[in-house]
Amino acid sequence: MDNQVVLTMRGITMTFPGVKALDNVDLTLRKGEIMALMGENGAGKSTLIKCLTGINAFEAGEIHVDGIEGAVVNHSTLDAQNKGISTVYQEVNLCPNLSVAENLFIGREPRTKLGTINWKEMKAKAQKIINDLDINVDVTANLEECSLALQQMIAIARAVDLECKVLILDEPTSSLDDHEVEKLFVLMRQLKEKGVAIVFVTHFLEQVYAVCDRITVLRNGQLVGEYPIEELPRVKLVAAMMGKDFDDLAAIKTEEKQDFSKAPLVIDGKGLSHKGTIKPFDIEIHEGEVVGLTGLLGSGRSELARVIYGADKNQTGELKVCGEKVNINAPIDAMKLGMGLLPDDRKAEGIIGDLSVRENIILALQAKRGMFKLLPMSKQNELADEYIKMLQIKTASKETLIKQLSGGNQQKVILARWLATDPTFLILDEPTRGIDIGTKTEIQKLVLKLAGEGKSLIFISSEIEEMLRTCSKMIVLRDGQKVGEITEDLTQERVMKEIAGGGSNE
Ligand SMILES: Nc1ncnc2c1ncn2[C@@H]1O[C@H](COP(=O)(O)OP(=O)(O)O)[C@@H](O)[C@H]1O
Ligand SMILES: [Mg+2]
Repeated sequence: MDNQVVLTMRGITMTFPGVKALDNVDLTLRKGEIMALMGENGAGKSTLIKCLTGINAFEAGEIHVDGIEGAVVNHSTLDAQNKGISTVYQEVNLCPNLSVAENLFIGREPRTKLGTINWKEMKAKAQKIINDLDINVDVTANLEECSLALQQMIAIARAVDLECKVLILDEPTSSLDDHEVEKLFVLMRQLKEKGVAIVFVTHFLEQVYAVCDRITVLRNGQLVGEYPIEELPRVKLVAAMMGKDFDDLAAIKTEEKQDFSKAPLVIDGKGLSHKGTIKPFDIEIHEGEVVGLTGLLGSGRSELARVIYGADKNQTGELKVCGEKVNINAPIDAMKLGMGLLPDDRKAEGIIGDLSVRENIILALQAKRGMFKLLPMSKQNELADEYIKMLQIKTASKETLIKQLSGGNQQKVILARWLATDPTFLILDEPTRGIDIGTKTEIQKLVLKLAGEGKSLIFISSEIEEMLRTCSKMIVLRDGQKVGEITEDLTQERVMKEIAGGGSNE
């Protein structure tokens, strides 16, 4: 190890049932540096951290910590802590009903000669820790009386007092306001000065540029690369997180798009929002128009689409469908208004494994008609045959149980379900994920065909190219907020720039 290196992780591999969460990942930390660990939701950041802190047992790979002979395998968080690795999670893991001082010394309270807790000494020591870090709090106050930001700082103070060499902050800023974030940064810089190596996970890109020295990027459980901050401006960071090589972003420019502004409005939303996930946004979708939703995984694409569909409670705003003001209280209302939603999480929300392909196809239509007006079997068979043929669903027969089909074919069955309701407005959330290229292209063609027939669609995909081929408008999301709408000059580069957002690091 070069003498600045305090910690290395090499070839870390870890599998959850069905998911390779980490595949041969490396991480190197040096003394007194702040390392941003970046990646879209599900990239493996938290998993990697939990391998380091002894919560996850990894299958392959090694961890080396400066000053400790041989490879380290942490069997517990305490073990990790004893080696100088401390973690502060988003949810502070301290005791709310104890005082600040007690929290700082849980498990290591100063004792009197008689073996009882020496409150006086504890209070004085706590005061010193707090003063040293410039935190403004009364150490006798109960932790629960402190703001979340303060609680986080106290958690950090505790970690630091344990003489940590490595401090891990996994999304500590998610619920802090700007002022609190700034205070946290001051604290982080102080620790850096003291030589602590910090791993910082955040989904706010600007925070990376405010405090970090280097960036490690993960994608789908794999290491994309490690970069000095000045070599990875925002757009390139976004490109790396999304798995694109920014320099090669062939300007896939789509053909001139039709102008839809004169076509009748099908969806007209004003100030739509969902408490806790989506900030108010306006949206207009015209007849025959395909609108794409783009943004990093976790930016709120699915949630925004669900707001339009009225899928969740606690929504606000005004929605007009085909000019009529509507109130949607349940999915069935949306369906009756001619809306359809192909959800992102098919396993949980879409597929009913023990029903046949036919039954899965007619499900939404049947629900729309009402359970007492059973579709005649002849009609069910006709629909099933029609969609199996149209979408080229590979199944032994229409009576085969859907769980026996491959993922791509299950996907087509669910798509058929919504097409069978003959929607005027259809939301397709990641309709092509996990399916083969051939089928992807078919689905893209189908989207264009449906639009050609005058249907309006929302198309969500992690593959920007796919949306560029099908959409005439792209809505860009960042942290649950609509931040842009692109109708002209639709190119990957443009979209990626909007996702990355402005600021001085372009
Ligand atoms: N306890 C778990 N059980 C099963 N799968 C998990 C578990 N924790 C994480 N995963 C999966 O591992 C992958 C990486 O997740 P995670 O490390 O939480 O990502 P990140 O922190 O980058 O958002 C994801 O596919 C996630 O679904
Ligand atoms: Mg995480």
